Amino acid sequence: MVAAFSRATCTIARVKGLILSGGKGTRLRPITHTSAKQLVPIANKPILFYAVEAIVAAGIDEIGIITGDTGAEVEAAVGDGSRFGARITYIPQDAPRGLAHAVLCARHFLGDESFVMYLGDNLIRHGIIPIVETFSQVQPDALILLARVPEPQHFGVAELSEGKVVRLVEKPAQPTSDLALVGVYLFNHTVFDAIDAIDYSPRGELEITDAIQKMIDTGRRVEPHLIVEPHQALVATWKDTGRLEDMLEANRIVLDDLAPRMEGTIGEGVRLHGKVIVERGAQLSNCTVRGPAIIGENTVVDDAYIGPYTSIYYGCTLRNAELEHSIVLENSVIENVEGKIESSLIGKECLIGRSPLRPRAYKLMVGDHSRVELR
Ligand code: DAU
Repeated sequence: MVAAFSRATCTIARVKGLILSGGKGTRLRPITHTSAKQLVPIANKPILFYAVEAIVAAGIDEIGIITGDTGAEVEAAVGDGSRFGARITYIPQDAPRGLAHAVLCARHFLGDESFVMYLGDNLIRHGIIPIVETFSQVQPDALILLARVPEPQHFGVAELSEGKVVRLVEKPAQPTSDLALVGVYLFNHTVFDAIDAIDYSPRGELEITDAIQKMIDTGRRVEPHLIVEPHQALVATWKDTGRLEDMLEANRIVLDDLAPRMEGTIGEGVRLHGKVIVERGAQLSNCTVRGPAIIGENTVVDDAYIGPYTSIYYGCTLRNAELEHSIVLENSVIENVEGKIESSLIGKECLIGRSPLRPRAYKLMVGDHSRVELR
């Protein structure tokens, strides 16, 4: 499960961690106009924390985090790493010039050591312990993770021949395989030679996919590691949370794995079904909650219905409303809404409500790139 990995048991050669938490997050606007996409909570925990925890669980405690415009917010949320049992170094990247550019920014931090590079918006359900162990034992120049996906054109795509990686293309219009590059890679220092030898791609980024192709072309050993395929598993093993739908699915994956917990106050008329987590200081009254669901610290739920796969973060109020399959960020209020809100991502300190005054009209203050669907 994602939430609590047990630590690696075998001795792992010295490997550092590098998490990429820069970028623009354009596909998650308007949330990312003001906040880092890597800090959107999945089951009430910032997605980036899962990456830090997975790396620490694999026995790696020295971690660099690449940051962009939202660096201050990321730093404030993650801190010096002591709460995760890690030492964290923040490495600014002046602009999102590509994943390989981010690695170049970390050259000083990485030195000559091998490292696991983890994209800060990716979620790997079962962690990375066996992958780091394989890398340490086999000692290739690079180890890449692959997963079969239905729409490979949105990812880096790999072609294999007799179990070897022969070709990698970043987001090809006509993919020649359904094997996507997962956002976790392991490299030794030879990746720097490859990055030094590639050019910026047509979309203006220094692509890690091109750097790995360069490693293959120059005879470096690049090993593929196929993670459990989504259609074989009951729920996906890996999720890139770049889009709203993926964020909601990641939330489903994590909520499914969590155990129920009750730390809040349950008043009259409350019915809880299935796996429900009620965090400290939360108050529930006159409501039905069908899990898997999590209700955050100091959140108030009254006269309401909360359906499966819903995460409500801290300090929120849900009153006279129905909510399902959604994520609500901190300190938001949803009141007196007719009809059920579903498959939604609601930002911080939002107010969604109905005024008793006539005329009955929609009155909106909606940020740039927002999506409002009224049915
Ligand atoms: O999720 C897997 C995919 O990730 C791979 O299949 C692709 O080959 C790989 O290029 C990457 O594609 P994305 O389009 O999803 O990458 P994105 O721009 O979303 O960036 C991934 C993470 O890295 C995200 O947390 C932001 C961060 N980032 C991104 C860029 C371009 C940086 O820190 N710096 C950057 O310059």
